[in-house]
Amino acid sequence: MIKIAPSILAADFANLDRDIASLHRWGADWVHFDVMDGHFVPNLSFGPPVLSSIRPLTKLPIDVHLMVEEPSRFIPWFLQAGADIITIHVEAENHLHRALQQIREAGRKAGVVLNPGTPAIAAKEVLPYCDLVLVMSVNPGYGGQKFIPESVSKIAELRRMIDERGLITDIEVDGGINPETAQLCIDAGATVLVAGNAIFQANDPAGTIRDLRCGK
Ligand code: DX5
Ligand code: ZN
Repeated sequence: MIKIAPSILAADFANLDRDIASLHRWGADWVHFDVMDGHFVPNLSFGPPVLSSIRPLTKLPIDVHLMVEEPSRFIPWFLQAGADIITIHVEAENHLHRALQQIREAGRKAGVVLNPGTPAIAAKEVLPYCDLVLVMSVNPGYGGQKFIPESVSKIAELRRMIDERGLITDIEVDGGINPETAQLCIDAGATVLVAGNAIFQANDPAGTIRDLRCGK
């Protein structure tokens, strides 16, 4: 079963409570929460106080994508604020095992993220410590970018690495996901799809979530 994680980066921030409440009704599985620090990526978004505020508004798991330098510095803050899932970029953290264990010891799900220029092999050593691997299909920093087609072969390579070891790690894909690119990712072995603009700009977000889940 494919899970859909709408990115609230594309929500209406003046009506965040309304948009978060809609996600469950639309059939979303997770809430994707994009944290940007203006260093690792050239943009700023939101942090732990916003997560604390939205936490009581939904029962869906909140999937925190940390696009920050040295994410391990901030892990305790996001655990405290109620993150269910935390992913950290391999390009941004020197001590991946320690950071992943820190998340898992708190009883939450942990994962690593690979930028488009980072090969699948960068996740190999830490796979047993990951509940998910997030494949960026755009260079992170902004919503609404175009899907990078080379992401598909990386997803397939990760799927092989995971299956060969008998692991049950999810493969999540983030950036430029619409029903067409969703189909390519699902065929390659992805199990979780993040979508911002495709959902929040849709006339029928619930229908779009159904289309993304099945591909087109
Ligand atoms: C990009 C973020 C994504 C982004 C996806 O830096 O990590 O989660 O919000 O937005 P869309 O689906 O519009 O590409
Ligand atoms: Zn993201």
